[in-house]
Order: sequence, then C-alpha cells, then structure tokens
Amino acid sequence: MATILDGKALALKLRENIKADTKKLTEEFNKQPHLVVILVGENPASQSYVRSKERACIKAGIKSTVIIKESTVLESELIDLILSLNNDDTVHGILLQLPIPKHIDEDKVLNLITPLKDVDGFCNENVARLNKGQSALVPCTPLGITKILEEYNIDPTGKHCVIIGRSQIVGKPMASLMLKRNSTITICHSKTKNIREMTKQADILIVAIGRANMVDSTYIKPGAVVIDVGINRVDGKLTGDVDFESAKDIAAYITPVPGGVGPMTIACLLDNTLTCFKKIERN
Ligand code: GUN
Repeated sequence: MATILDGKALALKLRENIKADTKKLTEEFNKQPHLVVILVGENPASQSYVRSKERACIKAGIKSTVIIKESTVLESELIDLILSLNNDDTVHGILLQLPIPKHIDEDKVLNLITPLKDVDGFCNENVARLNKGQSALVPCTPLGITKILEEYNIDPTGKHCVIIGRSQIVGKPMASLMLKRNSTITICHSKTKNIREMTKQADILIVAIGRANMVDSTYIKPGAVVIDVGINRVDGKLTGDVDFESAKDIAAYITPVPGGVGPMTIACLLDNTLTCFKKIERN
C-alpha cells in the first residue's frame, strides 16, 4: 500500500503559517492583504471553488472581495474592471475564475492583470519568468504539487516526470517547475499515441486530464509517485483522474481525491496573495 500524500494536512499547516504572517503584515503596514476574485456566469463548479477561496481568505485574515458578472458581460467591461483593480492600491491580488464565456478573449484579459497582482501566475510576464527559471508568481496547483513533494522529501532530481495534460493552468507550468528541479520531463496529451507506454516509464506521474478514474495500475510503474490533479463528480462523489483503489497497491506514494492536490491549490493562492502584498507594500 502506497504512502498517502496528505495534501489536506499540509494545506492546514500552511494556512496556519499564512494566518500568522497575515496578522504580522497587517500590523506592520496597517493595511490588510486583499484578494479580489472575479466570477463570470453561473458555472456551479466555479461558484463552489470561489466560495472555498473566499472562506479560506477570511479564515487567514485576508480580505476577500468577490465580484460577480453575468455571463453576457462585455469584454470591454471586464477589461475596465481589471484596469481599475490594477490601479486600486487597496487590492493586492486579482483572480479571474476560469472558465469564462467564449465571447471573451481569455488570453487577452488575463494578460491585462498587472504582473504584481497576478496571483494565478497566468499573465505573459509571469509565464515567461517561470519558463526562464526566474522568480515569478507561479500557478497555484503546480506550486502546491511541488510543496507536497518537498514535504515528503521526494527529490525530483534525475527522475523521469511524466505529465498528462498540457493546460496553461497545470501541465505547462508543472513541466517548468519540474524541469527547474532537474527532472526529465515528458508531457502527454490527447494526441499522444500509446500514453500507457509513456506513463509506465514515470518515476513521478502527474495526471491532469479531467477524466474520472482513467489511470489505473496498468499505467503505473511499481514504486512510482502518483499525483492526481483531477476533480470529477461521479454519482455526486468527488473522484480523481486516477483509479485510487487500483493504483494504491502499485505506487509508492499517491495523492487522494479529495484531500490531495485540491486543498494545496487554495493554500497556495493565499500564499501568492501574501507574496503580492509584500512586494507591493514594501516598495
Ligand atoms: N479554474 C480552475 N482552476 C483555476 C485556477 O487555478 N485559477 C483560475 N483563475 N481559474 C481556475
């Protein structure tokens, strides 16, 4: 039986530290760190994620504002909102919850968030800095995964890391982070032939496909580290992209769903918000 990588426990520990830091910073600058989340439309999963982010901020002493826009919002209105938040010196972090409706150019609006307040690390400057190996705001899910590996003393150096999924949110930044940590990287995606042959070679397998239980023991090398980024709802139950019951007896380490990567994403969002606060206020 694999060791369970307990993201929930690590996230709670991080959040306690963040809460203490927030208190100190609020006193030092006589100003409260403030995250603004923009939610467009009524996607139930997004609504639930945004509620979780808001609750986590409040618990940590970070001010949270959620701005809700209808799914018909004009791109120009969203742009004006982002520009005004960029210039608002009471705001330290700006997050546009994805997905957004198709009539809005996602890449264009994300790139208008000032790099200083870009808690998701999605703007071009932060993406470029990460890819160059420079200090950057890093997308929360991949950042959380690196913190889990560190916590369990899993050294990526020289390991073959196979990532399934090439999204801007997870796959691509994950590859950059693991490359920086001296892994050898393979990225698989929907057009990859013989995914199983690739994943069977992985010392560290990171799965972000969005298809429930797709990866079972037949995809996994004995003794591998398996990180499951999936959050799927099957018959009302949260399920990962990895078939946990099948994988747990072949992997050496595995993240559960729920309680693995998900809680770390939120903890890293709080962490990134404090990073922005310090950079902005210490300037
Ligand atoms: N939707 C799903 N994951 C994320 C994320 O990490 N950031 C944003 N902004 N939207 C998301």
